[in-house]
Amino acid sequence: MATEKTFYLETFGCQMNAHDSEKVIGTLRQQGYRQVESEEEAGLILYNTCSIRDKAEQKVFHRLNDYKKLYKEGKRFGVLGCVAQQEGEKIFEKAPFVSLVSGSASYRKLPEMIARLEAGESRITGLDDRQTDETFETEFTARQNPYRGYITIIEGCDKFCSYCVVPYTRGKERSRTSSSVLAEARRIADLGYTEIQLLGQNVNSYRDPEGKLSFAELLAAVGQVPGIRRVRFTTSHPRDFTRDIVDAIDAVPTLCDHVHLPVQSGSARVLKQMAREYTPDWYLERIAWMRSARRSISLSTDIIVGFPGETEDDFIDTMDLLARVQYDCVFAFKYSARPNTPALVMIDAIPESEKAHRLQVLLDRQREIQRSNYSRHIGEEMEVMVEGLNPARGQVAGRSSQNKAVNFTCGQPIAPAPGSYCQVRITGAYPNSLTGESI
Ligand code: 5AD
Ligand code: SF4
Repeated sequence: MATEKTFYLETFGCQMNAHDSEKVIGTLRQQGYRQVESEEEAGLILYNTCSIRDKAEQKVFHRLNDYKKLYKEGKRFGVLGCVAQQEGEKIFEKAPFVSLVSGSASYRKLPEMIARLEAGESRITGLDDRQTDETFETEFTARQNPYRGYITIIEGCDKFCSYCVVPYTRGKERSRTSSSVLAEARRIADLGYTEIQLLGQNVNSYRDPEGKLSFAELLAAVGQVPGIRRVRFTTSHPRDFTRDIVDAIDAVPTLCDHVHLPVQSGSARVLKQMAREYTPDWYLERIAWMRSARRSISLSTDIIVGFPGETEDDFIDTMDLLARVQYDCVFAFKYSARPNTPALVMIDAIPESEKAHRLQVLLDRQREIQRSNYSRHIGEEMEVMVEGLNPARGQVAGRSSQNKAVNFTCGQPIAPAPGSYCQVRITGAYPNSLTGESI
């Protein structure tokens, strides 16, 4: 009897990667593989990797080194995703027991690559360097998230911000037709999901190849799919952020009142060096559109501190922008030099300790902003979608439409299931979460 084909898959990085993994899992199952929960049980071990910052990338190589001995036991390894695309065949030198290296633009060839692996080949690559293939869509997608259905609407990136690897790891921008997006949204609703998240590195750069719908119109159309109660989208680029997106959020209640709009820096000079192609004023105009919306739109952002040449004054500009926008959530990172990127040759004169200092100053300030923002919800009633349980605290964990974490007590003897909705009265606030009780 042939031994059973099993695989273990671990995912690093962003939601695009998480969703790619759902497609990879579905594809492997179609090839007769069963997913297992640990490396020990698996014949094939796959890492879907991220290379956005140095640390993310190092994690993968550390992990691979740990598992040398498993190769001797006959297990096989594959590196997928952004590190795979970026490092290519160099991975075979760094980690000789890896048999398969594939970037996301080549996943449609996975069945063929897996067959070669089974036939005993050892250096199999899927490294489409044009990366202009259609987006990787598969009817086999094995949805792993119990409450949120992901849909990729656009892949890749043509923006070439000077610090960023994504244009090199995920290739050129290519959108799916609005009809295929809507068909998938209906399938997701049929599966019982009520929340959809539209994904793209620059989700709002979406351009319907059929020319039927703009991004804002697509958002509205997904929000009107019967059964769908919440629609999110990430990540938006300020360059392509148009006013009709705000109008759509105002007009369609199922579109969540939350926008993630990475600013990266509050300094006009640094933004120019980053090739972001907007100024702080231009960014703040988009923020003003959202602040003047009828609904209260929650804002979040990404910030890089210590970009090459960032002066103390530049950093103060970023701090000023934080004070002006009053975000509900900020993801802040120390600049990390990345292979292939234009910023690599800029003089990275800022010492690591100074970057760390700026990061801490920023996070401390932001914490106070959030403490005040979150406390304004005390006394409100809001709808919370259940995501899981926090047994240690005897609480249900969920999320508001604004994407705020809400932990609440629930009087019912049986805890509500993930994906269900509860009306919650907010009784307490922390800088990153709200607490309350179901009513
Ligand atoms: N160094 C630090 N942070 C980075 N990001 C992207 N590239 C880098 C880099 N080289 C951050 C940006 C982006 C988020 C996903 O990661 O803020 O919006
Ligand atoms: Fe990481 Fe960027 Fe790749 Fe996502 S697209 S996995 S964030 S490198």
